[in-house]
Amino acid sequence: MKRFSFPEKSSIIILIQAWIIMILFLFWKEPNSNIKEISSEKNQDLFSEDFVNKVLNRSIIFIGGVGRSGTTLMRSILDTHSSIKCGPESPFLAYFIKLWENLNLDKRIMEQTYKRGYKDGFINKALSLFFVYVLENKHIHGNILCEKFPQIMTVSYDLHKKLPNSKFIYMIRDGREVAYSFLNKLNKTKDFENFKIYLDVWNRSNEVFLKNCNRIGNSFCKQVRYIDLVTKTKETMEQICDFLDIEWTDKFLTHNEYIGTDVFAIPDEWSYKQIKKPVNNKSLNSWVGKISGYKEDYVKNLSMLKTFGFLE
Ligand SMILES: *[C@@H]1O[C@H](CO)[C@@H](O)[C@H](O)[C@H]1NC(C)=O
Ligand SMILES: *[C@@H]1O[C@H](CO)[C@@H](O)[C@H](O)[C@H]1NC(C)=O
Ligand SMILES: *[C@@H]1O[C@H](CO)[C@@H](O)[C@H](O)[C@H]1NC(C)=O
Ligand SMILES: *[C@@H]1O[C@H](CO)[C@@H](O)[C@H](O)[C@H]1NC(C)=O
Ligand SMILES: *[C@@H]1O[C@H](CO)[C@@H](O)[C@H](O)[C@H]1NC(C)=O
Repeated sequence: MKRFSFPEKSSIIILIQAWIIMILFLFWKEPNSNIKEISSEKNQDLFSEDFVNKVLNRSIIFIGGVGRSGTTLMRSILDTHSSIKCGPESPFLAYFIKLWENLNLDKRIMEQTYKRGYKDGFINKALSLFFVYVLENKHIHGNILCEKFPQIMTVSYDLHKKLPNSKFIYMIRDGREVAYSFLNKLNKTKDFENFKIYLDVWNRSNEVFLKNCNRIGNSFCKQVRYIDLVTKTKETMEQICDFLDIEWTDKFLTHNEYIGTDVFAIPDEWSYKQIKKPVNNKSLNSWVGKISGYKEDYVKNLSMLKTFGFLE
């Protein structure tokens, strides 16, 4: 038994003709109607320069640096402030930062794009607007928007160009402590081969991050040493208050008491266990004597360790 049958050839043709006539009827008279509608006066107001500039003018704090450099500690301390609620980092942003980086590197595709009439710099502007929208949609946010995301430093210069009221806190920590912390976190064998992988990443990333921070300038990008944050917390936070133009709170010195209240934190954050403790100096130099086959010659050659003065 036939479960279905094809209609006659002639009826298919009639059907197709009917469709074509219908489509022509719908679109033929006003081929540009959609375009006209989109660019009408009324809708242009949605993206008026005034409005866009207001959005881009938002006060924002970005906290970046190589992972394991104290970015989470920094944001947890700042989150005790009533105007600041950074919260945990937003994992999906990794894709957008990478995309932005890749677009900047792909000269060919950008040339082709601009030939098609796009305005100069529109991508940086669009992505900056996107970031503001994302931060406005956080679970909670303060008057000053905030995002702690280590790799944000890779696009910090582009972001700052479009977001004139954005400020960057760039966390810097001895690469050997960072590499050792990664090995611990990832449960890797503590030999020099593994250690070197993270040291090299640390060295390469900081080269880019420092360059961006210097280009932004010290009114809008502040380098903060992890060692200063944990050994001179008060002094360091006072400097950060000046930099961010916010008032001091004693809560900065006991941030751990506010985890779960002022400080929104979730257990899947990498540094959750650490930020629940008071600020301490236990992890300083923790790598010393723990790496099998440690090669002092190699480490002494790493230019960023020298640049930051960690070898003195
Ligand atoms: C941007 O913010 C500054 C203050 O930080 C203000 O002086 C300026 O008028 C603002 N511009 C716009 C377009 O809102
Ligand atoms: C860490 O790795 C060792 C072997 O290298 C393994 O025995 C141990 O279970 C691992 N621990 C965790 C928490 O994954
Ligand atoms: C460390 O970074 C510098 C740039 O500051 C670079 O020239 C050098 O090749 C890097 N070294 C390693 C081992 O990656
Ligand atoms: C580390 O902290 C302890 C107290 O917890 C203090 O005695 C010691 O001097 C500190 N070390 C450094 C290098 O700040
Ligand atoms: C250190 O750098 C020098 C010159 O850049 C190079 O000749 C030497 O092989 C390097 N040493 C190590 C251990 O990588």
